[in-house]
Amino acid sequence: MHLTKLKLRDFRNIRQLDAAFEPGFQVLLGRNAQGKTNLLEAVYLLATLRSFRGVGNAQIIRHEQKAFFAGGLALGQAESEIRYYWSPDQRKLTVNEKPMRRITDYLGTLRTVVFCAEDSLLVNGPAKSRRRFLDLLLTQTRPGYLELLHRYTEALRSRNALLKRDSPDPALIDSFTRELVANGEKLIVARRDLVKKLSPIIRLGYRKIAVKPEDADITYAPSVREDLAVSLAKSRAREQRHRTTLVGPHRDELKLALDGQSAAQYASEGQKRTFAIALKMAQAEYLGSIHGSPPILLIDDVMGELDAGRRAGLMPLISRTGQALGQVFMTCTEENWPGELSGNLHRWQIEQGSLKRMN
Ligand SMILES: Nc1ncnc2c1ncn2[C@@H]1O[C@H](COP(=O)(O)OP(=O)(O)OP(=O)(O)O)[C@@H](O)[C@H]1O
Ligand SMILES: [Mg+2]
Repeated sequence: MHLTKLKLRDFRNIRQLDAAFEPGFQVLLGRNAQGKTNLLEAVYLLATLRSFRGVGNAQIIRHEQKAFFAGGLALGQAESEIRYYWSPDQRKLTVNEKPMRRITDYLGTLRTVVFCAEDSLLVNGPAKSRRRFLDLLLTQTRPGYLELLHRYTEALRSRNALLKRDSPDPALIDSFTRELVANGEKLIVARRDLVKKLSPIIRLGYRKIAVKPEDADITYAPSVREDLAVSLAKSRAREQRHRTTLVGPHRDELKLALDGQSAAQYASEGQKRTFAIALKMAQAEYLGSIHGSPPILLIDDVMGELDAGRRAGLMPLISRTGQALGQVFMTCTEENWPGELSGNLHRWQIEQGSLKRMN
């Protein structure tokens, strides 16, 4: 899958951009604060309709403007012309001129995996970051998962609101409990199954990047070990004290370990970084295996944080995706990677929000 055209208007510091890209490895060069990350953010936004910086769309509108536009031509099994206009009071998303009303109909039109500074949260951050990683990948690969997650989250919200009351109606709590159990059990099964498949890919990926590789292991640690309905019933008394739902997939954890030790607690910065990259590479590989073509890789300033040995290990993994009909967008502040990059590179210069082809 690749993006052959990108058109942006008033997207952060990018006033106007119209670019055509070939498949393969695209390097975006530029000094600090020129718009490199903004461009990757735009491609990611076209794929997911949200920013990887965890902000709302209002912040994306170029200062003093009223709306932004992002559009592109995605080439996968079919050709999709995506047009996305966003202002605080009007949103319009079309594919091949057909309005997209439900996000689930749209997701999958363009698939990306992003490598960015925020990835450190996968190792260092709260369990929520890791649940989000699993949920995003399941959304991208399992039809119906997003709806399941929505139903679970809605039931959880209603149930928690009830538990906050002084004397909640037990029959009403029971009805939300049933909804929670019905959807929650399916979430647990899907997450367990995914972790089983990802775990060997991550172990292998980590070994390829690190020179003296440790054994990288991920384990799914669900918040409930037995039946969800039984656990919920057992926690009712405690729930009344805490006034919230204490067990269930919203409290699941994904444990990351290096040679059997918790990565968050014992790993060095470089090891953590490598682990986060291995998680993302596994995401890309798994997506490619399910959909038959690799996703677009968006790599933001990752090289600077790894030593030469690890960079050399990572490069072949990335450029493999860039070959065939895959596509990689990688930002750099300087051309400090000769020898590490193979094959044909497409170089772009980005300066004050303008993109220029260099070769
Ligand atoms: N909504 C906005 N309107 C206008 N400019 C914005 C907006 N949001 C961010 N910017 C500006 O865009 C510029 C480029 O940001 P970007 O994060 O893309 O830089 P970068 O090229 O990735 O730099 P670095 O190498 O430091 O990561 C910054 O100066 C930032 O202040
Ligand atoms: Mg940047």
